[in-house]
Amino acid sequence: MIAKNQKGSGSKNFTIVCGENIGLTPVLGWNSWNCWGLSVSDEKVKASAKVMFEKLADHGWSYINIDDGWEDKRNGEGEILPNKKFPDMKGLSDYVHALGLKIGIYSSPGTLTCGGYAASYQHEEQDARTYAQWGIDYLKYDWCSYSQVAPPNPSLEDYKKPYFVMRQALNKNNRDIIFSLCQYGMGDVWKWGAEVGGNSWRTTGDISDNWGSLSSIGFSQDKSSAFSKPGHFNDPDMLIVGKVGWGPGLHDTRLTPDEQYTHISLWSLLSAPLLIGCDLSQSDDFTLNLLSNDEVLAIDQDALGKQARKMLEKDNWQIWVKDLDDGTKAIGIFNLGDKAGRETFHFSEIQLPEHLKIRDVWRQKDLGIFSSSFSGPIPSHGVLLLKVKTVL
Ligand code: GLA
Repeated sequence: MIAKNQKGSGSKNFTIVCGENIGLTPVLGWNSWNCWGLSVSDEKVKASAKVMFEKLADHGWSYINIDDGWEDKRNGEGEILPNKKFPDMKGLSDYVHALGLKIGIYSSPGTLTCGGYAASYQHEEQDARTYAQWGIDYLKYDWCSYSQVAPPNPSLEDYKKPYFVMRQALNKNNRDIIFSLCQYGMGDVWKWGAEVGGNSWRTTGDISDNWGSLSSIGFSQDKSSAFSKPGHFNDPDMLIVGKVGWGPGLHDTRLTPDEQYTHISLWSLLSAPLLIGCDLSQSDDFTLNLLSNDEVLAIDQDALGKQARKMLEKDNWQIWVKDLDDGTKAIGIFNLGDKAGRETFHFSEIQLPEHLKIRDVWRQKDLGIFSSSFSGPIPSHGVLLLKVKTVL
């Protein structure tokens, strides 16, 4: 594809893949939970959708996902009804689709969701039909009260069962619905999430907006790396940048700017779904810039769908390396320590060849050709995100 205007021209290769496997790259979207929690409403969803359309859609962002808190009771026929904060779910879905975006919803396999609302147990087919009628494109399916349905010490088959049941129910409708498993990694879900038809699966408990939570979740993802592939991704939970709050009152994320660079870099290296957790209608320039660096997003969206491996851990430093589709590699050098420092790494330590052409991805700047080693200053809790190409 080539585009031209008076400022010049640019070209990009597009690959079109058809078939049963959907969601070939990790979802780029927004989810209501980390900002609004159970206080989510139709207006709040529309406000973030509008900003996604205006400011982020051109960078590939496309899903607007309603988390827990939309449900009411079932009617006489057993159909799930939205509560009064969502007066017209089909209308909301039409609004989101008219912006060129996609819409997601949330439920659980037990009788109640984590927030205590009606969930899908024994209504799976009915709910899947309702979602399809509303035009839903994505389902996040939790666990919560299903622990009262499953036996006390669930076997692997017990863990898989509710997800099989819902995937089958979704498949009965003529609609592509991304299926996002949310059971916090139980039974090593990364080993079988794809088998039950999951497009992504949470590998951890819930994240919160502080360095302890971010770093303990983000840097413990090496275990699941072999299982990431197109259409099936590990999910270390949603983003905690911008204004978050898990309820009606929001606050600025407690992450420092450098911790936020680390967050987006690491999640991109992990090929994680990127689900923005803040109120987009209140987002500042820093947050929007963080979410619209195309070279960073391209690492997350790389067609190979691989997850980075932790190749080096030394003192407070970690180096993660991700193979990319074009034969280059993305590298994150992370300073987990409390002080700024300079890390020199030898290419052989992370199994790279002698001569490398290196690009700083956040700054979108070529740094030159380096032989044997590279050294860069990195702030406390910060990152250098690089793209490297072998020079023969
Ligand atoms: C669980 C999930 C969260 C969110 C809440 C909703 O805690 O892990 O992401 O969906 O339930 O109640």
